Amino acid sequence: MPTHSFKLNGERVKVECPDNVRVLWVLRDLLGVTGPKYGCGINVCKACTCHINGKAFNPCSVPVSKIDRSDEITTIEGLADTVKGDGLHPMQEAWLDVDVAQCGYCQPGQIMTAVSKVNEIRRKEGRSTITDSDIDEIRNVCRCGTYPRIREAIKKGAARMS
Ligand code: FES
Ligand code: FES
Repeated sequence: MPTHSFKLNGERVKVECPDNVRVLWVLRDLLGVTGPKYGCGINVCKACTCHINGKAFNPCSVPVSKIDRSDEITTIEGLADTVKGDGLHPMQEAWLDVDVAQCGYCQPGQIMTAVSKVNEIRRKEGRSTITDSDIDEIRNVCRCGTYPRIREAIKKGAARMS
């Protein structure tokens, strides 16, 4: 059985599994990291969104063989450790302030996408504010329809990330 190794939330991990197993199942079933949720399995719903090397990706559609030893994957469980201090990530704090979640299922993916989006805008455009049209580009599905609260929380979180 092939061995695969990468960094996960700051720690090196190693798993033995076939090359074609998708990263979402490596995280959830082999490593017990269940923050990334399984919704569609075909890169549509975005419930599984995590970061790879700081950028959003959808592990349900990436075979583990595509992950390099030097790659660093961050899930919602490790997000707070990507910023200074002992508390939550500013985007998580904003989420709590706005009381975004309803059933909660999509929320880890929503937060991971939001952080990646804000960082991408900073990197590419040097802007620290996020606009409604930036948020319109986000494709994460919420079956509970929490979109207005997600929008408010992303703007608050972006402001706190500056
Ligand atoms: S479960 Fe990954 S995009 Fe839907
Ligand atoms: S809060 Fe229920 S799916 Fe988004």
